[in-house]
Amino acid sequence: MKQGLQHELLHADDDLMAGWPSLKELETEQKPQAHRTAERLATVDWSFVNREKAHPVESIHPYPAKFIGDIPRALLDSLPKTPDTVVFDPFCGSGTTLVEAQRKGMASIGIDLNPIACLISRVKTAPTPVGLSNVSLRIANAARANRNPARWAIPNVDHWFKEEVQEAVASLIDSIKYITQGTIYDTLRLALSSILVRISNQESDTRYAAISKPIGKNDVFDQFLLACQKLERALMARDWGLPEARVVEADTLKVGEDSVGRQVGLVITSPPYPNAYEYWLYHKYRMWWLGFDPLAVKEQEIGARAHFFKREHHTEAHFWDQMRQTFELIDRVLVPSGFACFVIGRSKIHGHIIDNADILQTVAGERGMCVVSRFERVISAGRKSFNLSHANIKTETVLVLQKD
Ligand SMILES: C[S@@+](CC[C@H](N)C(=O)[O-])C[C@H]1O[C@@H](n2cnc3c(N)ncnc32)[C@H](O)[C@@H]1O
Repeated sequence: MKQGLQHELLHADDDLMAGWPSLKELETEQKPQAHRTAERLATVDWSFVNREKAHPVESIHPYPAKFIGDIPRALLDSLPKTPDTVVFDPFCGSGTTLVEAQRKGMASIGIDLNPIACLISRVKTAPTPVGLSNVSLRIANAARANRNPARWAIPNVDHWFKEEVQEAVASLIDSIKYITQGTIYDTLRLALSSILVRISNQESDTRYAAISKPIGKNDVFDQFLLACQKLERALMARDWGLPEARVVEADTLKVGEDSVGRQVGLVITSPPYPNAYEYWLYHKYRMWWLGFDPLAVKEQEIGARAHFFKREHHTEAHFWDQMRQTFELIDRVLVPSGFACFVIGRSKIHGHIIDNADILQTVAGERGMCVVSRFERVISAGRKSFNLSHANIKTETVLVLQKD
């Protein structure tokens, strides 16, 4: 009797509610957007153990600590967006986020301090230059015939480049500088940049020992032509449209919202972090040869190991300040309810492990941004750089935040 009464009370309104959505349906409909997004994000395998072969455009030039395209792609797939949503990467490196935004038909903006990063990002997102093979052949022929290339004042250049290799590189640069079409000019310089370590005495991209290599002047021109062909093939293999991807070469901590130029709907980035990678050092000779100053880049580079081993050395506190400045910019340009996604590892500073994702989460909280999801992903053994081995760091964090 008692049970029957309870049943009657529970279902007294059943008739009244006929035709209305059930409680469960209501719950799904009214579930906050962040909740539904978190559910979608939770279905992703963030370590991407079974990932498909990357598109060749991802590997047109080496870059340390770059994203695998799968990360920004999964974020773009899981987060709410419209065709008008603009994607922003304040530390765009080799432009992986910008490429993935283009693949989804979305406009994007990237900022990076490193001129080699910006060069890679621009080439990856620009239309394939018309007539690249002919132009590169003419450049190589002119360089082969150049008996008196300009001399380059590069510190310690004789240690890292044989005399005849120096002459060949200088001849190529002499010829490329007469190219007036911006995209071809960028692409030729990127092709040259991509072979510089291989033709130098440096053992490899991640080993800074000088060794003897059987490379002569003609090998440099041949390698350059091969690099141009490889680049052209990778660019032509892009089977997607190329919406605007604007690359700003600047210190993210110094730019205002006017440099970003518009409101963005989505931030996807992996910031540099303390005492981990050294982008300036990795590209030092590339920068010297292409006419940039790596030492100026080093001064402004967030987290560079060099800053942690000088007399007035950086500490964790510097990173807190740098991330506060980064979030100030993000706050200015991100639309209300917009999402900001970070991929970041831990640091080891003078023996002390720092959870950089915790720092980002706290700084975001100070600006009223809340955590939608947080995952740990295993860094693939191939991507673990020589200078992370000192910290024995094997995972990194994917942190998804929402404004307001
Ligand atoms: C983890 S990497 C980004 C890699 C990128 N996601 C990719 O796929 O290639 C971090 C980037 O931050 C850049 N960076 C360091 N300090 C910076 C600063 N002050 N302003 C702008 N970029 C900076 C570095 O040059 C580097 O390219």
